[in-house]
Amino acid sequence: MKKITINTLKNQKNKTPITMITAYDGLFAKLFDDYVDMILVGDSLNMSFGCENDTLSVNLDTMIYHTKAVCRGAKKSFVVCDMPFGSYTNKKQAIQNASRVYQETDANAVKIEGGKNRAKIVKALTKNSIAVLGHIGLMPQFARSEGGYIIKGKNELSKKELIKDALAIQKAGAFAIVIEGVKDDVAKEITQVLEIPTIGIGAGVDVDGQVLVWSDMFGFFEEFKPKFVKKYLDGAKLIKEATKEYVQDVQNKKFPTKEFSYG
Ligand code: KIV
Repeated sequence: MKKITINTLKNQKNKTPITMITAYDGLFAKLFDDYVDMILVGDSLNMSFGCENDTLSVNLDTMIYHTKAVCRGAKKSFVVCDMPFGSYTNKKQAIQNASRVYQETDANAVKIEGGKNRAKIVKALTKNSIAVLGHIGLMPQFARSEGGYIIKGKNELSKKELIKDALAIQKAGAFAIVIEGVKDDVAKEITQVLEIPTIGIGAGVDVDGQVLVWSDMFGFFEEFKPKFVKKYLDGAKLIKEATKEYVQDVQNKKFPTKEFSYG
């Protein structure tokens, strides 16, 4: 099985859409690896895995721990580690922290949230041989400072700003950009303007790829379901039913039977 590289992904611009899914451990990374092009160790793990209210409190050590596990499971997929909030506030700190990701894990790239204001940071990383996946539009790390999860591109000014953001991140050397929570027509225009691929989440179909958070798409995260999530499995229901069956079996002494005993 050949590892997917940056060049493979760049060549997918305007071709078969890139597929990306999040994973936080080796077990699920192994399951997804045969199918998807990319696996994102997203800081969304702080919410869906850590049961926190937002992504902001996860730290770099935790991201590295989960990225190591995912890399052990992902033999083929291109693995991206999300740089957590506060880990790339200036060039020096960003280089130090992203270098830790490269040195301590087998991640192929890091992801940075931010537009033109973060372009200098992205450039510092790419100039230091660290591959960067950009992330513009609705950026969960900005949720507290912006007062919520706000859909972008709703007016002409917002559209212009997003295009400037995308171009700045491309110029800074990012190999692709995640566009999250952006009106479909604006995401389409950004995709047309850029030479690098765009990967959408809540950004419509006219982008170069799609990403979803695994616990959302497989129905394990029950707190809320964003509009853009298609539920491919009723995971929570299945797990609850199976857990209930196990508990009933144990309580009714139906488990373990001889089949599951050493005799
Ligand atoms: O953390 C994450 O899972 C992400 C995706 C929503 C793109 O950044």
